[in-house]
Amino acid sequence: MRINHSGGSYEVIATSLESASQLIASDARVITDSTVAAVAPQVLKGRAHLAVSPGEQSKSLETFGEALSWLAQSNATRKTTLVALGGGVVGDLAGFVAASYMRGIRFVQIPTTLLAMVDSSVGGKVGIDLSEGKNLAGAFKAPDAVYVPIELLRSLPARQFTNGMAEVLKYGFIMDAPLAERLRQSTLYPTHPGLEHVVMRCIQLKAEVVEEDEFETTGKRATLNFGHTIGHAIEHAYAYGKILHGEAIAIGMVLEAQLGEELGITERGTAKVVTEDIARYGLPTAIDPSLSPRDLINAMYRDKKASTGSLAFSLLTDVGRCKLVQDVPPDMVESVMARV
Ligand SMILES: NC(=O)c1ccc[n+]([C@@H]2O[C@H](COP(=O)([O-])OP(=O)(O)OC[C@H]3O[C@@H](n4cnc5c(N)ncnc54)[C@H](O)[C@@H]3O)[C@@H](O)[C@H]2O)c1
Ligand SMILES: [Zn+2]
Repeated sequence: MRINHSGGSYEVIATSLESASQLIASDARVITDSTVAAVAPQVLKGRAHLAVSPGEQSKSLETFGEALSWLAQSNATRKTTLVALGGGVVGDLAGFVAASYMRGIRFVQIPTTLLAMVDSSVGGKVGIDLSEGKNLAGAFKAPDAVYVPIELLRSLPARQFTNGMAEVLKYGFIMDAPLAERLRQSTLYPTHPGLEHVVMRCIQLKAEVVEEDEFETTGKRATLNFGHTIGHAIEHAYAYGKILHGEAIAIGMVLEAQLGEELGITERGTAKVVTEDIARYGLPTAIDPSLSPRDLINAMYRDKKASTGSLAFSLLTDVGRCKLVQDVPPDMVESVMARV
């Protein structure tokens, strides 16, 4: 599959890890994390690599600086390719390193989590967190190629697989009713024969959106945020520790489907279907009663998507279609959160 962007285009290929490794220049540098290094040694063999600590804490200025110095010390040049081998953390970090080193070098993504495959490895957003907030420093850096080794999902912890399923379900809800139906008929798991097809379909759907709105200027890309306005607030309330992103947006999708129904935008009965689909994958569907709806609303106003001073939501019209809705009354959001 070829994805276009302002600076050219790149290929996304589903392939074994072994073949991906052969497609990459032998003198490429690789950034990975120590967990992935243990399950994907083929790519590292004979190549200079940096294995950071697993987890969000590696998307830091400190690790960013270390990675740049490591590239310089390994005599990387303008012609060097940098490979991100890992989940979204490694992809975002390595992408920002590739965008910065010598003002930009070649960059290849090998996503190894379901979330990284269907979301973070395509679209060109890369970056790191600051102590002041998540993803506050970054760049648009389209990869030169993305290799998707589905087989690696077998070693992924079950909770991480389920986490990625939240984003997979989201694509069905916002833009592909047949995909939603398929996920309903046959529950996916890491060795499911249909998994590769579904992953590639999700990548294609994301590509369609980002090709239309690469730099987030028209509002099209914001439609991918279904479940995210509330989801981000939930993540924030937990200080990004207790809950994974996919789990937070699963709750966000349930609540935002309900919100859409109350606003008369979402067809009645949709929230019930969304809730059942999410529950089928073992994702949470209700907000923890210890979280205060008022605090969550305040967190939404601080979120960058509310930069205009009003709350915007990507809401379903029905399963398979959505639209961006501005100026949603906060009282209504609060009452939905208090109830569901
Ligand atoms: N750039 C974007 O457009 C975009 C989109 C969505 C998310 N993100 C970012 O992605 C990050 C989250 O990514 P993630 O969910 O992939 O988390 P992650 O990169 O932290 O990976 C999750 C865990 O799984 C482990 N792991 C990865 N692959 C494995 C495998 N094949 N087998 C066993 N263990 C494996 C990792 O070591 C880690 O402990 C966040 O920082 C988020 O901001 C970016
Ligand atoms: Zn997301």
